[in-house]
Amino acid sequence: MPVMKRSHHCGELRPQHAGQTVTLSGWVHRNRNLGGLIFIDLRDREGVTQIMVDPKEFPAAAAVAEGVREEFVISVRGLVHARPETMVNKNLATGGVELWAAEVAVENRSNPMPFHLEDANVSEDLRLKYRYLDMRRSSIGRNLRLRHRITNAARNYFDEQGFVDVETPILCKSTPEGARDYLVPSRVHPGKFYALPQAPQQYKQLLMVAGIERYYQIARCFRDEDLRADRQPEFTQIDIEMSFIDQDDIITLVENLLARVMKDAKEMTVPTPFPRMTWREAMERYGSDKPDTRFGMEIADLSPALKNTGFTAFKGVLDAGGVVNIINANGLGEASRKQIDHWTDNAKKNGGKGLAWLKVGEGNALTGSIAKFLTPEELAEIVRISQAAKGDLLLVVADQWPVAKNVIGRLRLEVAEFAKVIPADTYNFLWVTEFPLLEYDAENKHWSAVHHPFTRPLAEDLAKLDTDPGAVRAAAYDVVLNGTELGGGSVRIHETDLQAKMFGILGVSDEDARLKFGHILDALAFGAPPHGGLAIGLDRLVMLLCGASSIRDVIAFPKTAKASCLMTDSPSGVDPKQLAELSIRSTVTDSLTDSANR
Ligand code: AMO
Repeated sequence: MPVMKRSHHCGELRPQHAGQTVTLSGWVHRNRNLGGLIFIDLRDREGVTQIMVDPKEFPAAAAVAEGVREEFVISVRGLVHARPETMVNKNLATGGVELWAAEVAVENRSNPMPFHLEDANVSEDLRLKYRYLDMRRSSIGRNLRLRHRITNAARNYFDEQGFVDVETPILCKSTPEGARDYLVPSRVHPGKFYALPQAPQQYKQLLMVAGIERYYQIARCFRDEDLRADRQPEFTQIDIEMSFIDQDDIITLVENLLARVMKDAKEMTVPTPFPRMTWREAMERYGSDKPDTRFGMEIADLSPALKNTGFTAFKGVLDAGGVVNIINANGLGEASRKQIDHWTDNAKKNGGKGLAWLKVGEGNALTGSIAKFLTPEELAEIVRISQAAKGDLLLVVADQWPVAKNVIGRLRLEVAEFAKVIPADTYNFLWVTEFPLLEYDAENKHWSAVHHPFTRPLAEDLAKLDTDPGAVRAAAYDVVLNGTELGGGSVRIHETDLQAKMFGILGVSDEDARLKFGHILDALAFGAPPHGGLAIGLDRLVMLLCGASSIRDVIAFPKTAKASCLMTDSPSGVDPKQLAELSIRSTVTDSLTDSANR
């Protein structure tokens, strides 16, 4: 129980409260002793209020105030004073007032802090070790509250639309598609394992067979994959599935959901419908299946113009069926060789052969690494196609189509960041549709599903499933925001025969299909309705709406890039007795103490 009970929060007081006696509680954000007067910035989750203690008037309060340190928890009772106009602190919402303390009580002490909350130079590891302190930072608190507003908006929307929130199991069956599973050993069934769900995909489809018709869940998902700024081993999806729908129904529903979220959480109106682009067009124009359309710099194709070129590097690529692509880095003609070399290195890291460049001079004359190998007509065509003007830098990539697109697409983003042409506070939503259904897995020598094995091929491409699987497009769609894949989904296969055929194409034997997916094949055979859905990555959505650069900033207790929790020191070794109960023998001898490699 607090020694004193608060009457207001620390972000609440304004000049109109002047003359009132109030009680505030919170953490000591800062304290200073100035000319005998003690000043304390008192913080709670709503804000900061300046406290003043005068030892002459209230010696007992001052004696307590003198002993407080950073992050002590205190309560203060006193009189609200309006500050004179010239003394108003414009950086604080409460900057028009000061609380003149008559009583100060220490509710709890604090050890010296391992870091200062607002110090920008603290290592992330230290912050994550003391995550409960890190979260006292105003920015993380703000992010978590925006996250709450976003899920609230989503829940309200789904409720109004007749969706039912159904929880699906966390202990599931391990199935071979997608990323690597997290496994949970069964004590009761020695040698057997559950898997944590990578997504509720199969359950939500089974809910459609069950006649739920409109399902949603704010669902926790687990994937043992390489982590990046927008990936965590456990993350949250806004997961949706609907029956008796077509692709447009889902797209419209999700557009309205996101528009609602933007309105409720950000007070922003986003225009619907969102632009749509096929996967092929996205790759051609942006070199990415999640194009960032906040800026131009679109990719142009030089291949037709150079088809008879004598320049062997390009000719070789074109003769082998490849492409020569270009972007115009407007106004970057002054970029240094060092900078261009850096981009070239990255192009190579991304699998490209390198990077050719041209600078545009007076009269659109081109100079640079490849100018001397090209004819005046070819150079003129390059100027025309890339819409080059004096002072521009042209960057050219020649390679097989997928490599060229990937390399130049990434380069486009790097160059835009360098040129600072990406506008802040712009939210460009768009759909990418008609993804390929399958991609060839050269390592394992079989086709694998681009989205997942339950995704429906487009009706007009069905015939190609047997003859040209790589050319089959899927009824799959991704929603993209500012160059990040926010969510993805598809219309599903609802017929047993087609699903069995799909497993066959994916190299799953009939026997394995029964063993791993028997429940799905059986369920589809009992009158499964046509259905489809989508899942939005909630963490990514919150990250983008907060303007954060990592999803760690919008998750209360995130894992590091090596999937560990520095605060609880997990994963950790376990007692050999626990392993014995689970019929598990570890091949790591020091698993009890092993915390290396985190
Ligand atoms: P998918 O695998 O595309 O589809 O995932 C949907 C969305 O989830 C988010 N996401 C992640 N977020 C953080 N960390 C991760 N490791 C991570 N992996 C994925 C992304 C992604 O767009 N069941 C299907 C959906 C469906 O077909 O309905 C699925 O899970 O934002």
